[in-house]
Amino acid sequence: MNTIFATITEDEKSNASVYEKAGEILRAGGLVAFPTETVYGLGGNALNSEAAGKTYAAKGRPSDNPLIVHIADFDAVYEICEEVPQTAKDLAAAFWPGPMTLVMKKKAIVPDSITGGLGTVAVRLPAHPVALQLIRTSGVYISAPSANTSGKPSPTTAEHVRFDLDGKIDMIIDGGPVEIGIESTVIDVTGEVPTVLRPGFVTPEMIREVCGCAELDKAIIEGAPADAVPKAPGMKYKHYAPGGELTVVESISGNMDAVVETINRLSAEKRAGGHLVGILATNETLSRYEGDTVLSVGDRKEEISVSAHLFARLREFDDAGTDIIYSESFSRDNMGLAIMNRLMKAAGGRIVRIE
Ligand code: TXA
Ligand code: MG
Repeated sequence: MNTIFATITEDEKSNASVYEKAGEILRAGGLVAFPTETVYGLGGNALNSEAAGKTYAAKGRPSDNPLIVHIADFDAVYEICEEVPQTAKDLAAAFWPGPMTLVMKKKAIVPDSITGGLGTVAVRLPAHPVALQLIRTSGVYISAPSANTSGKPSPTTAEHVRFDLDGKIDMIIDGGPVEIGIESTVIDVTGEVPTVLRPGFVTPEMIREVCGCAELDKAIIEGAPADAVPKAPGMKYKHYAPGGELTVVESISGNMDAVVETINRLSAEKRAGGHLVGILATNETLSRYEGDTVLSVGDRKEEISVSAHLFARLREFDDAGTDIIYSESFSRDNMGLAIMNRLMKAAGGRIVRIE
């Protein structure tokens, strides 16, 4: 398949023809990748089973892992959800448009192929202008998983999408790099207490401020039993992984000097054994490391600079051919919970804890 590349520019006229073409493709059951404020999504017509099948095939994703339905106006929830609880209305008023996904009981018009056979559907109203314009002009609700090959780090630029999906989808819309860099917070609002199934930019504290309470699904709390079954089916699969073997190094007491020392020692050992070693540092520590590829993910003092670059850096280690990677760890406060969730998954749970 020949994938069309299009860029959103300052030129309104050329943008209009991009949305027109993309809408045509979506209405015909094809796939269009587009930017959102979290990560790039792989869009299809959410009410069309055939489009869902193509989405799973392009990503190489297991079809029991349901897709998020993207809408551009709140009232659309009444068309696709059987029940819209008060907590959903309150959370939507606080955080939509934005990086939050709500799981609610689905209506019959949402095909089982979108929801992996579940009786619920995940819905998001994104904040990115290109995403909103695409949903509105195409006239369809857009199902969109992250636009990466299943298992790989999620795409935060159109180039990442091209690398994974060129030739497998109809169109890629380049709207520049994303802002947040990790996927939306997924919240189950079907029960009494809103439950976070996947952490993201909207934190449990922010949810508590709106609803008075919030729980975390056991499977995302570290130290949860290995057999804890995640309620978001996607959380059980291998995820976000770079090609090299990633290990997180964490100091329990927060001693960064000890972290730097440990990573440098491990790096030297592996390099002596003939490995190409990558190190994921922060601006604060970048100059203190010795490895083959040393990259800063961002500024410790500014969470969003870390989330925005995490997946891109993991891909850069692949480009450099590193087969062993060490990363610093991060505080689990605020959005740190989401950052550590993605990092620990990318590491397949490998962590070295020191004093
Ligand atoms: O930020 C995002 O959410 C991005 C952008 C493109 O919007 N999308 C995204 O989609 O991350 P995806 O498919 O990569 O992740 C969707 C997550 C998975 O963990 C999936 O299991 C969960 O949401 N999910 C979807 N529908 C669900 C449902 N009905 N019940 C529970 N979890 C659900
Ligand atoms: Mg994904």
